Amino acid sequence: MLSAIVPLLRCPLCGGAFSRQAGSLVCPNRHTYDIARQGYVNFVPGKRDPFYTKALFESRAKVFEAGVYAPVVQRLGHAIDRFVTAPAPVLLDAGCGEGYYTRSVCPDRAMTRIGFDLSKDAVRLAARSAPDAAFFAADLARIPLQGGVADVLLDIFTPANYAEFARVLAPGGVIMKLAPRSGYLRELRALAGDQLRHRDYGGGDDVSRWAHEKMNVVAEEAIAYTLRVTPEIAAHLARMTPMLAGVDVGRLDLSALREITIDETLYIGTVK
Ligand SMILES: C[S@@+](CC[C@H](N)C(=O)[O-])C[C@H]1O[C@@H](n2cnc3c(N)ncnc32)[C@H](O)[C@@H]1O
Ligand SMILES: [Zn+2]
Repeated sequence: MLSAIVPLLRCPLCGGAFSRQAGSLVCPNRHTYDIARQGYVNFVPGKRDPFYTKALFESRAKVFEAGVYAPVVQRLGHAIDRFVTAPAPVLLDAGCGEGYYTRSVCPDRAMTRIGFDLSKDAVRLAARSAPDAAFFAADLARIPLQGGVADVLLDIFTPANYAEFARVLAPGGVIMKLAPRSGYLRELRALAGDQLRHRDYGGGDDVSRWAHEKMNVVAEEAIAYTLRVTPEIAAHLARMTPMLAGVDVGRLDLSALREITIDETLYIGTVK
């Protein structure tokens, strides 16, 4: 699917348009990026985040397969149907991870689906699981896309760069930002107890302040539910969440854990 979006891309080094030459994308200044066998492009060769490993993304895939976030996908889908009216919109998933939301939202709607992430491992998994979408590895501080191309931009549990988001959004385009609230994974955090760097999750206020400072927020919705999980899925959740970064998950007694709370805020807005 990458070939369909080549006209939307731009070189992250010089901003030039790309042409496709054999298995590569080449800009007028001869900056060259190979298209991987799986159909994605790596615009940030050599960059690696030590927390986001291949094993972590594989744990995440198991959690998504188990349907833990299916209600979130539904709510996002309703929001897209309500706020994105273009007949064939371009959806951009910034920090898409292994592409779960990129491929799952609005399954019956014709959209050009584009996802990118700093992690090449994540993007490789994404490209494999969603051949109809286009994926590339890139930094959200320097998105290799032309300006004004995206009708809807997803920013799900990922840092935001509102200046870049404003540049790549089409006129009237909307941002859908999902961030955790205080009850998010509270059962796991209670188990981790003393091992946690921060016992109370306190990040929500900052995210909310930034979202309101940088966006014209047109809707703000809570997405909260508790669901039953197997100890195996609980273990994958514990391994995948940055909230438990630094915790020795092997030391947690997950056998008694039966349910997990998802507690998030969805901010929907246009950029200021
Ligand atoms: C908590 S994960 C969320 C992934 C996905 N949105 C989801 O909800 O399944 C955060 C993601 O942001 C990505 N990320 C962090 N910094 C980034 C950056 N500067 N540019 C692009 N992606 C970034 C990470 O590699 C990781 O996949
Ligand atoms: Zn270039």
